[in-house]
Amino acid sequence: MPWVEFTNVVKRFSNIMAVNNVSFSIEKHDFFTLLGPSGCGKTTTLRLIAGLELPDEGRIFIANQDVTYKLPKERNVAMVFQNYALYPHMTVKENISYPLVVRKIHKQEIEKRVNFVAESLQINQLLDRYPQQISGGQQQRVALARAMIQTPSVFLLDEPLSNLDAKLRLEARSFLKHLHMELGTAVVYVTHDQAEAMALSTKIAVMDSGIIKQIGTPKQIYDQPVDTFVASFIGNPPMNIIPCRISDGYCYIGEQRFQLQIPLAKTYQDVYLGIRPENIQIDRTKGDLCAQIFVIEPLGVETIITLNIDNYQIKCLVFEDVPYTAGDKIWIKLKRDKIHIFEKSGKRIQGSEQIDNY
Ligand SMILES: Nc1ncnc2c1ncn2[C@@H]1O[C@H](COP(=O)(O)OP(=O)(O)O)[C@@H](O)[C@H]1O
Ligand SMILES: [Mg+2]
Repeated sequence: MPWVEFTNVVKRFSNIMAVNNVSFSIEKHDFFTLLGPSGCGKTTTLRLIAGLELPDEGRIFIANQDVTYKLPKERNVAMVFQNYALYPHMTVKENISYPLVVRKIHKQEIEKRVNFVAESLQINQLLDRYPQQISGGQQQRVALARAMIQTPSVFLLDEPLSNLDAKLRLEARSFLKHLHMELGTAVVYVTHDQAEAMALSTKIAVMDSGIIKQIGTPKQIYDQPVDTFVASFIGNPPMNIIPCRISDGYCYIGEQRFQLQIPLAKTYQDVYLGIRPENIQIDRTKGDLCAQIFVIEPLGVETIITLNIDNYQIKCLVFEDVPYTAGDKIWIKLKRDKIHIFEKSGKRIQGSEQIDNY
């Protein structure tokens, strides 16, 4: 049996469908991330696991128990909220101890566990301070410590890194991943940041408007997105999605065409070609399509090149020196085995696996 399971869960707020018939299952050692834009239902899903919301339909299981209508304290989960929610009138030590104090755990045992988590999160110097006397990054670690001091069936983390500056966020991300490997406890993690989801997760569920669009490993989500929503939500810059037509094995983009080099039996009048920026090569003299460089953005390791092809704009990512300047007319070559074809509706066309595997 899976460790955490949702079956056909529905949650409405009056006429808003916050969670729309969501099902998933998480194994005991998973780092499971709910990824999607603001308002898509991530926090509500997490609160349903915690028991802070009750579903209108469906069932929720944790550790082989049906917890659908159980109280939060009967579920053995530990949650870190987006805004940390530390108690301002309590010291760091009191904040961390609190979940054990309310459970009437023995004082000595509390002392032992506080010291252990404070040490591993490197906040043992801060135990006597109040939340307003420590930095945002430190508050975030205190919130994590307050969760870690418990021995929950599952950790629930709601955008725990979003209030940190960029550098600290990267550090905290590595730390979180390390922590998960050490503890081996299931994590359900909420973020709108695709890089965070890719870096941390064993499994990602991509959400949109209360629906789970796709569940998979980071690699599956990146390489085989089920539709244009998932394809363009993941990756930085995201996948290029270009309107095209396919006929007789040729792909037509604007006034230009190139051979797909695979026998596609059907003609597709009105579809999209999807290709990630790193799978486009630029050449001065030859390629699939003629394009003009719009702008070049060097980022140190990599360079983003934005190109115009007729009326369409696409982005390429290159890791070599760039011997071009804006305005140059160049050719681009698309890696055939990295081309995706999507229906007008956005769904990846059955059979585009053939293209992937070519
Ligand atoms: N308590 C509530 N009352 C009314 N609407 C809510 C409530 N909580 C969330 N919603 C709505 O449900 C949808 C999903 O919200 P939420 O789960 O917070 O999204 P996310 O965390 O992905 O940004 C949004 O449209 C939001 O406005
Ligand atoms: Mg949220």
